[in-house]
Amino acid sequence: MNYTAAIVTMSDACYLGKRADGATPAVAELLSASGFTVKESVLLPDEAGSITATLKKLSDKGYDLIVTTGGTGFSPRDVTPEATLALGSLRNVPGVAEAMRFNSMKYTPRAMLSRGVCVIFKKSVIVNLPGSPKACTENLSFVLESLKHGIDALNGNVTECARK
Ligand code: MTE
Repeated sequence: MNYTAAIVTMSDACYLGKRADGATPAVAELLSASGFTVKESVLLPDEAGSITATLKKLSDKGYDLIVTTGGTGFSPRDVTPEATLALGSLRNVPGVAEAMRFNSMKYTPRAMLSRGVCVIFKKSVIVNLPGSPKACTENLSFVLESLKHGIDALNGNVTECARK
């Protein structure tokens, strides 16, 4: 089964050209290797209004998965989780964010500092990842296979969920 995806990277430094964006290619590579077609990627500054508007636009296109990177920490400009929750009529998927943080604790205790959320909005699953390319890969690789099952269910393609 092929799935569609979009990547939204939040970074003031990358947006201003002060740093190269390593997160988008890292996420794109992982998604492509896991059966996702990455249809588009967007680079944004850490501005809540444009993040929410971009997520709305991308979910209107019906992508199965929208992965955001960056802006999940404690600094005053880290607003990605709030901008995601501001989409409004969504369903929270706390287990995916919990699983990523739980697994990431084996890499660094600072994994607990990521405030990222995962939600279902319209026909899309939106997952917030931290900003460093390494953190993106460590987080997303742990949940991607399960997310595919969730996406199948969201599309009404799962009749039997129970393990045999
Ligand atoms: N998760 C993993 N797997 N690996 C990491 O290196 N870094 C943490 C955390 N999650 C990290 C991680 C750190 S140091 C921070 S501050 C938070 O993610 C938030 O990152 P962000 O502000 O780039 O979103």
